[in-house]
Amino acid sequence: MSIVSVIEIQNDKVKIGELITINGWIRSRRDSKLGFSFIDVNDGSSCNPIQCIAYNNLKNYYKDVLKLTVGCSITILGNLFLSSGKKQKYEIVINNINILGFVDNPERYPISSKNHTVEHLRNVVHLRSRTNFIGSISRIRDFISYALKSFLYKKKYVWVPTPIITSIDSEGLGKMFRVSTLDFYNLPKDNDGKIDFRKDFFGKESFLTVSGQLTLETYACSLSKVYTFGPTFRAENSNTSRHLSEFWMLELEESFLSLDEIIQFSENMLKKLINLVLKNCYQDIKFLELKSKNKIFCKLNFFLENDFIKKDYAEIIDILNFSKKFKEKINFGTDLSSEHEKYILNYYSNIPIVIKNHPKKIKAFYMKLNDDKKTVSSFDLLLPGVGEVIGGSEREDKFDKLETRLKEMGMSLQDYSWYLDLRKYGTVPHSGFGMGFERLLSYITNVTNVRDLIPFPRTAKNSLF
Ligand code: 4AD
Ligand code: MG
Repeated sequence: MSIVSVIEIQNDKVKIGELITINGWIRSRRDSKLGFSFIDVNDGSSCNPIQCIAYNNLKNYYKDVLKLTVGCSITILGNLFLSSGKKQKYEIVINNINILGFVDNPERYPISSKNHTVEHLRNVVHLRSRTNFIGSISRIRDFISYALKSFLYKKKYVWVPTPIITSIDSEGLGKMFRVSTLDFYNLPKDNDGKIDFRKDFFGKESFLTVSGQLTLETYACSLSKVYTFGPTFRAENSNTSRHLSEFWMLELEESFLSLDEIIQFSENMLKKLINLVLKNCYQDIKFLELKSKNKIFCKLNFFLENDFIKKDYAEIIDILNFSKKFKEKINFGTDLSSEHEKYILNYYSNIPIVIKNHPKKIKAFYMKLNDDKKTVSSFDLLLPGVGEVIGGSEREDKFDKLETRLKEMGMSLQDYSWYLDLRKYGTVPHSGFGMGFERLLSYITNVTNVRDLIPFPRTAKNSLF
């Protein structure tokens, strides 16, 4: 007798007739007048529960089985059989059922067997993983993270965990969460009456990172091919479906690589990934497709069949201005809004699009200045339904140009002296990008709000738990 998971049974890994134990939670109970009950059980390994049959000759049938409601936890010992029902291939006939935990006040249990709205589920974040919806998302999220890491490992990229606590504003966004142990009610002051951060834990102002890129570059300039993957923090008060205050980002950095080469790499990586997702997450994607009534498989196959469109920012601005859809003229130097992105994706039949060579004034200081001195070697990848999923660039590898750029932006040369050193000691051309993990998941799953794609979303005014 062995303990098996629901997915092992569904994947034909258990022999018919075998005596098995399963642990899990009740998804539904239906009683037959003929003296038995159907109990659907799931253990979180699959989006489909396994049907179990409890006959009334079980010693605790009347005492326990007839009291089971959605969410009760149980251990079942039983034999596996082929089911005569149309909905499922297998069923378990129960020999013994042990109730581990009943549900108090079942009528008030927030996760019933009916379909819940995502808004309702966000109000019970600690219980929402009990739904098939969040279960499917969690398994897909796990697979994608594993597939990305193994893809990069096979391609000989070295994983470099970059610091979460940092004193630098990598993106120059000024939207960082402070990390401090100072007493807010009794702040130490210097002679000028300013807060004396020398007395703080790290001896200077410190924050949660907005990007590991700059520290990652130090390793790219020695190990050549590196990446970091971890939580990233932004104190942006943007209340949209694609912004989180804490999100996960894959950042990759490679030496001796040009802008066009890094763009091609990101396209190859995503195609490989989506291929693997289609093969390995079939059931979960199918479940989400049925739930959302959107054609996810069609979309992902379309993604695989088409080369990304690659256009310069200047050309995109011309297309937007030509469209007459937007009342105001869109000037060179405008940061594209989500409406602009939507229009452009639609214009190109929803084929993924890479926009390159943005004006320097809307991009970060580290991007390589182009010969026109107006634009930088940047790129953004836009995907339909989500917008920007990847942002990257070739990095400025010339000491003088980088120094000038830092000065122009009013940034401290002293704070970035270590970063300038990389251009002083054996500088190399190098490029990289950052990919928002929840936004990628949003594209793959068709779940439109990133708050449903991370287990515990953090947004303005929400840090529950
Ligand atoms: O475009 P961003 O700001 O680029 C960087 O941070 C670079 N340092 C990356 C690099 O070149 N190493 O962010 C990269 C991606 C975006 O394209 C987006 O997908 C995601 O991170 N992102 C967010 N995702 C969720 N919530 C937010 N608030 C996000 N901000 C950015
Ligand atoms: Mg960006």
